[in-house]
Amino acid sequence: MTPPAALDLDAASSLQVTGAGPARGSLRVPGDKSISHRAVLMAALAHGSSVITGLSRGQDVSHTLRAVERFGVIVTDAGDGRVRVEGPIRHEPDDVLDHGNAGTGIRLTSGVCAGIDGVSVLTGDRFLRRRPMERIAAPLRLMGANVDGRERGNLAPLVIRGGSLTGITYAPKVASAQVKGALLLAGLSAAGPTTVEEVHATRRHTEEMLAEFGARVRVEGSRVTVEPGRLTGTDVSVPGDPSQAAFWAVAALLAEQGEVVVENLYPGFGRSDFVGVLERMGADITFDTTAGTLSVRASRLRAVELTAVDIPGIVDEVPVLAMAAAVAEGTTVISGAGDLRAKESDRIASTAAMLRAFGVKVTETEDGMVIEGASRLRPARVDSHGDHRIAMTAAVAGACAAEGTTVIEGWDSVATSYPRFAEDLVRLTGAGAEPGA
Ligand code: S3P
Repeated sequence: MTPPAALDLDAASSLQVTGAGPARGSLRVPGDKSISHRAVLMAALAHGSSVITGLSRGQDVSHTLRAVERFGVIVTDAGDGRVRVEGPIRHEPDDVLDHGNAGTGIRLTSGVCAGIDGVSVLTGDRFLRRRPMERIAAPLRLMGANVDGRERGNLAPLVIRGGSLTGITYAPKVASAQVKGALLLAGLSAAGPTTVEEVHATRRHTEEMLAEFGARVRVEGSRVTVEPGRLTGTDVSVPGDPSQAAFWAVAALLAEQGEVVVENLYPGFGRSDFVGVLERMGADITFDTTAGTLSVRASRLRAVELTAVDIPGIVDEVPVLAMAAAVAEGTTVISGAGDLRAKESDRIASTAAMLRAFGVKVTETEDGMVIEGASRLRPARVDSHGDHRIAMTAAVAGACAAEGTTVIEGWDSVATSYPRFAEDLVRLTGAGAEPGA
C-alpha cells in the first residue's frame, strides 16, 4: 500500500493504520511545544529582536505566534526554520486572540495580558472552551487584573483587563506549569516580587527561559520567585520534545525487534520521567542527557504502580504509558491523576476507551485507572476526542501491536503538535497509513 502525501494525512479527519510490525530507526521529533510557546511570548515581551530556531510548527504554537502579532509584535518567518520576533509588545491586542486547541497558549498568554494596560479577549476551539481557566483567573485577580469569562470567568472566551499588578505569593491547588508560567509572566510587570509555591515541582521551562531573557528569577526547590523587570531579546534554540519521543519509545517496545533512537531532546527537569517509568517496567531504555539522545529496544515489560508524585513528570505521557501497561505482565494501577480529566480531552476516560477498543481490560477510577496487562491487542476503531495524544498512541499501537486495520477518528488533532507524525510512523514501522473510512 503506498501512503498518500503526508499533507493529506495531516488534514485527514480519520486515519487508517494497517500493521503490525516493529518500529525501527532513528529520528528527530518536533521542537518542544512547551519551550516554543514560552520562547514566542518572552520574545514578544522583550526589548529587541530574538531569533528562534527549531520552533514547534504545530497549530498550537502557530496560534501563539499569531496572538503576539495582535499586540504589534513583528514576526518574520525566514522559512528556513528560523523565526524572528521583534518585541516589545506595543499595544493592547487589536483583535480577539484565538488559541485554537492550546491550553498552554491561552493560559500563558493570559499572564501576559494581565500585565498589559488594556483589554484582551482570549478564546479557542470547542475543546479549549470547555477547559477550566479559574486556576489562572483566581491568582491573576489577586494580582489586580480583572478577569472575566463564561461561567464567572472559568471558561473561555476570557476577557482580561490588565495593568497595575502587585506581586503575590501563591500556592496553586493543582501542580501546573501553565499556572506557574502565567503568574511568573504577569509578575514581570507587577510591583514587587511574585512567588509560586508548587505542591509538586513541575517542568521548569518558564523559570529557565526567563533567566535567558535577563529576568531576575530564583528557584528554591518547588518555590520560584520572579522580580519585576524588563526582558531583553535573545536567540533561542528549541530542542526536540520529549513528550513526542515517548510515542516512539513505546512503539519500539510494542513489538519484538523494535529499536528506536530519538535525537536532540530537551534533557532538563520534569520532562523525561517517562524514561524512569519505562525502566521500572523493565524496558531496555537509555537517555543520554548530555547529547539528548534516547535509545529504546523491545523488551518484556512488567506492570507498574503510578501515584500522585509520579504524575507531574509524566502528565502528557499517561495515554502512551497506559498502552505499554496493556502489553506488560501484571496489573498496572494509576492514581492521583485526576487533573488529566481537564486536558485536551478527559484523558482518563479517553485513554480507558481507547484501551477497551483495542481489547484491553481496564477499569476507570476517579483519579486514574487499573489496566490488566498481557493483552493481545486487536485492531480498533478509536475516537481521539479531539486529543492529539490519544490519536498518536492509537496509531503506534495499531502500527506495531494490533494485526489488521485500526481506524482513528479525529486524526486531524495531531496537527496541533506533530504535523507529519503519520509520515514518521510509516517510515519507522512500515505500516500502511491512509485517510480512514
Ligand atoms: C504544559 C504543562 C502541562 C502539560 C501541557 C504543557 C506547559 O499542563 O500537560 O501539555 O507547557 O506548561 P498543566 O500545567 O495543566 O499540568
